[in-house]
This record gives sequence, structure tokens and C-alpha cells, in this order.
Amino acid sequence: MNALPLLIAFTLQCLTTLAQRVVLADIWKPPNPSSTAVSSRQDSFGAALTQKPDKTMYWINITTGTPGQPQSLQLDTGSRSLWVAAKGSSLCSSSLVDCADLGSFDSSKSATFDDADQTNTISYGDGTSVSGEWFYDTVQIDGHTVTNQLATLGTTGSGVKEGVLGIGFPASYPTLNHNLAAQGVIASNKYSIWLNDLEAPGGAILFGGLDLSKFVAPLLRVPVVGSTNADASVAYNQPTVELTRVSTLNGITITTQTSPGYSENAILDTGTTLTVLPKSLADTIIDAMGAQYYPSASTSGNTIISCSQADEDLSINFHFGSKAEPTINVDISQMVLQGLGQLNGVEMCQFGLYSSDGSYPTTLGESH
Ligand SMILES: *[C@@H]1O[C@H](CO)[C@@H](O)[C@H](O)[C@H]1NC(C)=O
Repeated sequence: MNALPLLIAFTLQCLTTLAQRVVLADIWKPPNPSSTAVSSRQDSFGAALTQKPDKTMYWINITTGTPGQPQSLQLDTGSRSLWVAAKGSSLCSSSLVDCADLGSFDSSKSATFDDADQTNTISYGDGTSVSGEWFYDTVQIDGHTVTNQLATLGTTGSGVKEGVLGIGFPASYPTLNHNLAAQGVIASNKYSIWLNDLEAPGGAILFGGLDLSKFVAPLLRVPVVGSTNADASVAYNQPTVELTRVSTLNGITITTQTSPGYSENAILDTGTTLTVLPKSLADTIIDAMGAQYYPSASTSGNTIISCSQADEDLSINFHFGSKAEPTINVDISQMVLQGLGQLNGVEMCQFGLYSSDGSYPTTLGESH
């Protein structure tokens, strides 16, 4: 029994790191980024998303080249670049990307490959990066084709685990979803994402429209606002909305955790694993949900929670817009992530909340 604390300390090391797919680069604001008109289904198509086994992200399958070579990529609303791992590159051989399972791209086997002859490095907000060459080629999602898509053929990198399909706002070149609309495959450049349940194997993205079966009417709109990132050059890079209240629900008791007049910009990012809130707000939610910091001496960063809290009648409510409507109600079970082992005889799980001391912007990650 005495050996247990050591074992605990060891197993608890495997906390999911805050993987944040946010690109720092110059951007171009699209003419109408907040357009959310509902379109009919024939103008759109859906693609399945697979939840990564560790539940930290969602994969989408695409093919690149002619004939198409399959890749499973992270779907990321928080960045805007498409990159695939080059077959035989150090990304595959260094075990950064599991190319055997997730696919890679052999440009020499594609009849439509067009080397742009220019190197590119994509750096993400969590410090990971990938480098390679720009290229143009045909890309397909679920049999729907975009030609001459600009992408990066990744050859070296640090910290990255899979290629990324970034569907944030386009920069100086069109994202894949933008090209789907520009090339007439879908009616307009909009999409809706359904991430389903934490325990579900996957969700779906609908390019070009809104799946009316995936939500309970009415559909409420909130304006897209500037990014929280202090670097003005990244404004509008990521879908960002105004968070106007956060409350917790314990049984039937609602407690507002923010002060009157509270307003904060929050990035909606499928590519960030956890929900990131500023420390002052995170502290009150940690208390209300019965979570704690890990390591226990820390006062910001990762949090853990007894796994059995997932069964409690607790939730966190995020309110948006000037009237604090709509509200997204996140049941605590959706925030209780991977098991980490025992602490003082209690099974502990990672809590999907990251308390930021200012180093990360407020982000509603894929735990929503
Ligand atoms: C994506 O591709 C992988 C590898 O080919 C396959 O195992 C998986 O079933 C595909 N996922 C979907 C949702 O089609």
C-alpha cells in the first residue's frame, strides 16, 4: 500500500497536454465571416468524424492526389492550413505521425501534383510545428472533389501527431472548405459540426449547411467577434464569440460564476483538447465541480477530478451574446476525461478544464 503514492504520481504524469491548434500568421478577413444562413441539404454534404481513441480530437478522412491516397487528419476550426505527412519523411519514421494507420502522401504517385517550390512552416499555439513544401493537388472528402488545393507536404516537425485540416477563416489563400464553395461543390462556405457525445465513436461535419436533425430549434445566432489573441494580426483567424456569462448547475441550483457585465471573447476550437478559462473563473468552477489542480501545488494549468463525479448532477453553462442567450449546457460527464490512476485511494480522471494564468486565450475546446 505504501508504494501506491509513487505509482499514483507516476500514472498521473500522463495528463493530456493542452494541444492547441492555433496558427500565428497574417490573415485576411473574409467578406462575411458571420453569415450563417440555413441552406437546404442538396447544397451540402456530410462527412463522418472519428473520435481519436484518447478522446482528444476528431479525425476526418480525405484523399489527396490522383488517384486519391487516403489520410486521416485532425479537423481543426482553430487553424486554416491543410497539411499531410510526406510518405517516407522523418515525420513518419520518427514516430511523430503514425503514417501506417493515418496515411501519408506520396507526391510522385499523383498525376495532378503541382509542386509550388516553396518551403513552409506551420507553427501552432501549443509550440508544435511542421515544415515542408507548398503544393497544389486534388483533394477529395467523401467523394467530393476540390482541384488545385494549396496544402503543405510535411516532412519534418515537432510535437505533431497527425496532419491537420484547418477550416478556420482563410488567410491569403483559400481553405479547403472555402474552395468547396468557390468550385461549386457546395452552395456556400459554411459548415456545421456535430461532435456528439464524449463516449461516441465520432460525430459529423456538414459542409455547406446545417443539419436540422442535430439540434433542437430555435437556431440562435451570435456574432463572430475578433480573436482574443493580443496579436492583432491573428484576429478573425479563428471563430471567436462573446462569452457573456458562465454559471454552474448543481441539481436545481444555478450559481452564476461571473460578475454582472462580464464579457470575454472565446475561441471555438475543435483543435483544442480542453476548455481554457482564465484562472479567476476557472477557480470558481473547479470548486463548484469538485475538481482540483494537478500537481496539487499548482495554482493554474491542468486539473483533475474524481472519476465518479461524472455521475453527479452537475453541469457548466456557457452563455453567449448580449442577452446571455444562447446557453450551452455542458454536463460534467463530458468534462471527465481519461482515467489517471488512484490518488489517496480515489480513482482520478483528467478534468477537461485548463486554468490559464494568461498564457492561453479563452477557448471552448472539443470537450463541448
Ligand atoms: C477513415 O480511414 C480509416 C483508415 O482507412 C478507416 O479505418 C476509418 O474507418 C475511416 N473512417 C471513416 C469515418 O470513414
